Amino acid sequence: MPIETIFDTMEYGTAPEDRSVALQWIANHGGLIGPYVNGAFAPARDDLTIRNPATGEKLAGMTLCTKDEVTEAVQSARAAQPDWQKAGGPARARVLYALARLMQKHARLLAVMESLDNGKPIRESRDIDIPLAIRHFYHHAGHAQLMPSALADRVALGVCGQIIPWNFPLLMLAWKIAPALAMGNTVVLKPAEYTPMTAMIFADICSQAGVPPGVVNIVTGDGSTGAALVDASVDKIAFTGSTSVGRQIQEATAGSGKSLTLELGGKSPYIVFDDADIDSAVEGLVDAIWFNQGQVCCAGSRLLIHEAIADDFHNRLKARMDKLRIGDPLDKSIDVGAIVDPIQLQQIQALVQANTAGQTYHAQTPVPEGCFYPPTLITGLHPADTLMQEEIFGPVLVSTTFRTPAEAVEIANNSKYGLAATLWTENINLALEIAPKLVAGVVWVNATNLFDAAAGFGGTRESGFGREGGWEGLQAYSKPRQPLPEPAQVTPFTGQGAAADDIDRTAKLFIGGKQARPDGGYSQAIFGPKGQLLGHAPIANRKDIRNAVQAQLACGWGKTTGHLRAQILYYLAENLAAQTSRFAERLDAMTGLTTGAEEVRAAVDVLFTYAAWADKFEGRAKSVPMRAVALAMREPVGAIAALCSDQHPLLGLVTPMAAALCTGNSITLCASAPFPLAATDFSHILEASDVPAGVVNILTGPQADLAPHLGAHMGLDTVWCLSGAELTQEVQARASSNIKRVWQGAAQDDHDSWLDAGTEIKTIWIPYGE
Ligand code: NAI
Ligand code: MG
Repeated sequence: MPIETIFDTMEYGTAPEDRSVALQWIANHGGLIGPYVNGAFAPARDDLTIRNPATGEKLAGMTLCTKDEVTEAVQSARAAQPDWQKAGGPARARVLYALARLMQKHARLLAVMESLDNGKPIRESRDIDIPLAIRHFYHHAGHAQLMPSALADRVALGVCGQIIPWNFPLLMLAWKIAPALAMGNTVVLKPAEYTPMTAMIFADICSQAGVPPGVVNIVTGDGSTGAALVDASVDKIAFTGSTSVGRQIQEATAGSGKSLTLELGGKSPYIVFDDADIDSAVEGLVDAIWFNQGQVCCAGSRLLIHEAIADDFHNRLKARMDKLRIGDPLDKSIDVGAIVDPIQLQQIQALVQANTAGQTYHAQTPVPEGCFYPPTLITGLHPADTLMQEEIFGPVLVSTTFRTPAEAVEIANNSKYGLAATLWTENINLALEIAPKLVAGVVWVNATNLFDAAAGFGGTRESGFGREGGWEGLQAYSKPRQPLPEPAQVTPFTGQGAAADDIDRTAKLFIGGKQARPDGGYSQAIFGPKGQLLGHAPIANRKDIRNAVQAQLACGWGKTTGHLRAQILYYLAENLAAQTSRFAERLDAMTGLTTGAEEVRAAVDVLFTYAAWADKFEGRAKSVPMRAVALAMREPVGAIAALCSDQHPLLGLVTPMAAALCTGNSITLCASAPFPLAATDFSHILEASDVPAGVVNILTGPQADLAPHLGAHMGLDTVWCLSGAELTQEVQARASSNIKRVWQGAAQDDHDSWLDAGTEIKTIWIPYGE
């Protein structure tokens, strides 16, 4: 064909990648795959059929691991864990490095197998999935090496159960296994039932790389195998997949003491302002929604386009869509491959067919028979339309318009999800104003779908919690060296004594900056150790919680500067210090101890400490291997409620409050029930210290009555359960309502852990250069 014709038509031929290397690997394994336990493949069964979605052909048969088989894998991981941890960071670093090297050596096999098994274009598996997975192991070899010095006060969790989805099979495996191994954990990983093949090659590589038997175990199977792993005797579950399964896992692990991280779905906005470089934004959008056939948790699946440029943009986008080539994933000239499975295809079709709103445009490009779906654009939707809210998980983009930046932010955040967001503007000031306002764990400015092992990835709201990648990702696979003792349970003193005088000593709740009578009108007599009546504390109920959270959501504290927050914390410290003797007497009267003055001084010190941190708990600029800065910004988790411990009625109230306020959160404090009067007294200190209304609310009454309502409340982002395991379980059992974070506290002087619990990292990617 003459070159001129090629330029005219832009026609180019096929360039199929040779698949024999992968088929040979399968043949060498007898066409069957199964669990890899204690350093070897167990005999496999033909329970489930693994297919190439592009052709429907069987690739292999796979064992559906039973509960017993999962138990065996967990036992192998358990047995291997102590030695793996004791081997030390540098020894583990060598193994992780060897894994990276061997993956690099087998990169072509891995890429071909990934495309065969999942249906993704070979260009993507070869240039994105596999290199990023390898990079993850290299990066975490470094974290293992540095652990003894950089994370000297942290240790492994133990055995981690890891469950991954089918959209990035090897990459998700890398995101899970590399940090776990680096920190000294051993793992049992379950790949998705549609896409187990590259995990099997990885198992092979583990044997070659000298991974000690039992350190990495892989169980094959479906949701039932995953559920068995969740129930097994593991120390942590790390899950990536659908929000509905994430919710089930949160319920299943409630009260088990297992750590949990969830990376769930999304409906990420892709915002194009009227000053954007439109052609770049169109090209970015191709990546955002047609990369991996749109089967990407952080896909830019909601286009928000400035009204003034909407028609022009949509036209250019349609022209570009028509040029996308759909077909054989193993063809290097293909842009869009196969949908992972006919079931997933049916789900996409059903969602699009059920939609009657807006105008639907399918790309005018040949679509092969079988498990393929054309790139699709649905314009003219309203923010409340189903397809603007629900994750489609396919190559379908929905679109709406906005007029002002404020409106763009409002529409963007009108979602139950909060995973990622993309924004396009040539105005850096606008970009950096908007990025922090978007409810998302990752924001891309003038780019999309950038990932790196050094930069954290993860969501907020119903997109889950926890970060993968970077220093922040290591938190999820390690814990403080000093175990946290279970708080002592205190029984309230009883008595019938009358007050020394007839002044009404009924304290009030503190809600929305005001002293408030409890909604139920009840209060409870509080007695000292000798039965003397000290006063009455109100009994809060569900409606008081509702009012407190409403006040929290309206308080705007998250927008204040660290300097201002420091000033207010210092002011609180000053005002408390001025009343040391009054508070000390109150504490001694309630507890019968003589440590009141010491406790007040400690509380003052805590206020000074977190005042000091308020403008110093900083983010980072990540060292990513491309022309971009990745800013890891610390953002407040939002609205917190705390069940305060009984042990130190004042210090146990002031510590969570100070840590929460320092990092920009509002908090509702459920005070110690047996010793609530230091808390009700403290509300006067809050009033005197310019703390804005709603930032701190104080409730009293039996915590067991409040805990379930806190767990279920849709407005609370986090509950800190600082008063023991029993109530933690109560809260966790209901926390899946809005995928709430539940945290059990840290040692008093472990400031880093308290500050981490109050913040979440948002990664803002800003590429540079012309
Ligand atoms: P899924 O959430 O059911 O599967 C993810 C993983 O969890 C798989 O390994 C599966 O075997 C396992 N699993 C399923 N049920 C389980 C249970 N009860 N306990 C423990 N593990 C369990 O996702 P599925 O069914 O493959 O896809 C359905 C929808 O989920 C998609 O259409 C998409 O909307 C969403 N999804 C989101 C992903 C993300 O990355 N955010 C990834 C995959 C799916
Ligand atoms: Mg498959």
